[in-house]
Amino acid sequence: MPKQRAKVVVGNWKMHGRLADNAVLLKAVAQGAADLPENVLVGVCVPFPYLAQAQALLADSRVVWGAQDVSAHTEGAYTGEVAAPMVVDYGASLAIVGHSERRNYHGESVELVAVKTQRVLEAGLTPIVCVGETLEQRDAGETSQVVGTQLDAVLAKLSPQEAVRIVVAYEPIWAIGTGESATSQQAQEVHAFLRGRLVAKGAPDVPLLYGGSVKPENAEELFRQPDIDGGLIGGASLKYKDFLAICEAAGAVSVTQ
Ligand code: PGA
Repeated sequence: MPKQRAKVVVGNWKMHGRLADNAVLLKAVAQGAADLPENVLVGVCVPFPYLAQAQALLADSRVVWGAQDVSAHTEGAYTGEVAAPMVVDYGASLAIVGHSERRNYHGESVELVAVKTQRVLEAGLTPIVCVGETLEQRDAGETSQVVGTQLDAVLAKLSPQEAVRIVVAYEPIWAIGTGESATSQQAQEVHAFLRGRLVAKGAPDVPLLYGGSVKPENAEELFRQPDIDGGLIGGASLKYKDFLAICEAAGAVSVTQ
C-alpha cells in the first residue's frame, strides 16, 4: 500500500560550524529547499550558540531548526545546561534527544532520554528520539531488543496524544560517521520493527528516520523503503550540495510514492 507520510530530512551538525561558514551553509540550504516538493520537510539541528543565527537566516524559509540536546530540567542551578524553553526562545521547533554520542560519551540512560523527551514535548518542540545498536549487539542478534528497549522507555512515559508528536531516528552506531551505511534492507527491517511498537502505542504515522552515513549516493534507495520516512544526516549535512542532494532524493521519492 503506498504510504502518505511526508519525507523528513534533518541535518545534525554535531559540534561543527563557525559563524561565517554557517552563514554560507544556512543561506544555501534555505535557497535550495525552496524548490523541493511540498511534502519534504527540511530541518537543521545546530550547536546552541548558533540557534540565533539559524533563526535570523532561516526565518523566511521553509527550513526549520533546532537543538541537538536539552536538559532534563526546566530551569535551575544546572551549570552548563540548556533548557528546552530556552531553545524555543530562538524560534526552534526541533530537539534531538538520545543521540548515541550523548548516550555513550555522557552516560545518558534510557530513563534520562525519556525524561528529556518529556521536557521537549512540554516546551512545544518536536523531539527526534534516536535509537541504535552497536556492532557487537547486532552480531549477537540483539538489535530488536536494544532498540525496542530504548524506544519503549520513551513511549512508556508518553500518552498516545504525546506519542504522535515525536519523530524517531534509527541510527545504528556502527554506521555513524563510518561511511558504512546500513543496507536499505537492514534499515527497513529495524524500521518495520519500530513501526510495530509505534502502532501498538497508537502512533503509526510517527516519522521514522534513518541515520548513519546517509549520502547523496544511497539516500534515495534508503528513502524508498516502506518504513523509512527520511534521514538524520550528520557529516553530509555540513556540505550544502550533499545535504540538498539528499533532500532532493527525498523529494524524488515523495512524488512517486
Ligand atoms: P553521519 O551521522 O551521517 O555522519 O553518519 C549521523 C548522526 O550521527 O546523526
